[in-house]
Amino acid sequence: MKLFIGIDLGTSAVKLLLVDEKGSILKETSREYPLIFPHPGWSEQRPEEWWAAVKDALPELLQGVDTSKIAGIGAGGQMHGLVILDENDAVIRPAILWNDGRTQEEVDYLNEEIGRKRLSELTANIAFAGFTAPKILWIRKHEPENFARIAKIMLPKDYINYCLTGVHSSDYSDASGMLLLDVAHKCWSQEMLEICGVTETQMPGLYESWEVTGNLKPEVAKEFGLPEDVKVVAGAGDNAAAAVGTGIVGEGGCNISLGTSGTLFISSEHFGVDPNNALHAFAHADGGWHLMGCMLSAGSCNKWFVEEILGGNDFRAEESVITDEDLGRNHVFFLPYLMGERSPINDVNARGTFTGLTMDSRRQDLVQAVLEGVAFAIRDSFEVARSLGLDIPRSRVCGGGSKSPLWRKIFANVLGIPLDRVKTEQGPGYGGAMLAMVGCGLYPSVKDAAEALVELGGTTEPDPEITARYEAQYRKFSRIYPALKAVFPNIQ
Ligand code: XUL
Repeated sequence: MKLFIGIDLGTSAVKLLLVDEKGSILKETSREYPLIFPHPGWSEQRPEEWWAAVKDALPELLQGVDTSKIAGIGAGGQMHGLVILDENDAVIRPAILWNDGRTQEEVDYLNEEIGRKRLSELTANIAFAGFTAPKILWIRKHEPENFARIAKIMLPKDYINYCLTGVHSSDYSDASGMLLLDVAHKCWSQEMLEICGVTETQMPGLYESWEVTGNLKPEVAKEFGLPEDVKVVAGAGDNAAAAVGTGIVGEGGCNISLGTSGTLFISSEHFGVDPNNALHAFAHADGGWHLMGCMLSAGSCNKWFVEEILGGNDFRAEESVITDEDLGRNHVFFLPYLMGERSPINDVNARGTFTGLTMDSRRQDLVQAVLEGVAFAIRDSFEVARSLGLDIPRSRVCGGGSKSPLWRKIFANVLGIPLDRVKTEQGPGYGGAMLAMVGCGLYPSVKDAAEALVELGGTTEPDPEITARYEAQYRKFSRIYPALKAVFPNIQ
């Protein structure tokens, strides 16, 4: 039986999965790495630390395994991060991540001077602070000596693939988030490259996510006792990989991912753009496309509140005192904009707030408000999707946050739809392994792989009474950010 390695290069950690050709997860390992916040609202990581984490985790994953059976590797990775390499393929500076908010000036230049309309014609998207193109402009202006040394521009998981194979590659789903790809035609936009002052020779080669970009480098194969003919596929952005892992491929499915970020992902066989560009229009890892809303702080709000503020780590204990009677009746509201916000408000200055505190507000009300605030913010993107005429009768849900039964219940009721879990909830890593299976010829397409491998693992149904209460709560939540918007830039 052939074996496959799926890699999920996340923001807090890398997770490695060993999956057999029947789709069973045999082993799982992970390694954490630090996030660097050089200034408030900035966010960086060292690509060398990602690779060191992968190398550190691999021997544990492979211990006691017949490595001759390993056939393929596929990765899903945090999107948009700017990795720049010099002519010797050495990393020039730490990667600027997807949740970094330093590029407001560059975003304004792109959206106002080049113009939203032109950007959307060229790339199907407008500029957001976390996207890659504004970061290239930022480096050009603020670090000209680094800009002059750029020989290759890559995305996070592409750097790992490069370390594995020596090939500079990217895939269409991840490249969509650079604002340099002509998403409709799946090629680099020459005009966007020119606007950013870079050329196609500095860009990685483009592949479909399941396409093999190369074999393991002989020295890497030797170091880990792996066969040299292990194939590495191009992989995908973590949201597209997670959608593959939860079986959201083809037309009209929806997946909500609750990791550090929170995303609403709607797959389609056809290319389409949100006329207001509030939702991203990206390529999917199955050969099609998707629309996506991304909030910058989802699971991270809960982690921040429980660990940093309450000083604990027992998430279930904090949640266990919250009953059905409490749902939809909280007087405390939380804006989850701890890193500013992307979808749909596109405001790097937005900040987190608790609103509505009174002398009788309890610890549990604040815990609940954090979980609800994240769900309401996803509902904002859900409403944008609905306004485009998209019907979302149900959704799958994955990521660390989806393990909480209470949070799933809050989400199902705030959105008013059933939420399905899958048996293998390791979204991006599992999707990466599935892409490797397709690349190695086990399945003719990603859709076939999803049909064969993804099994549902239980549904959280909305309760009409709680949903009705949350309708009223959502309307209250929706008035808080507009009322505070003008205040945020003045309190930094
Ligand atoms: C998507 C996005 C995030 C990261 C998180 O646009 O920025 O979901 O991919 O890893």
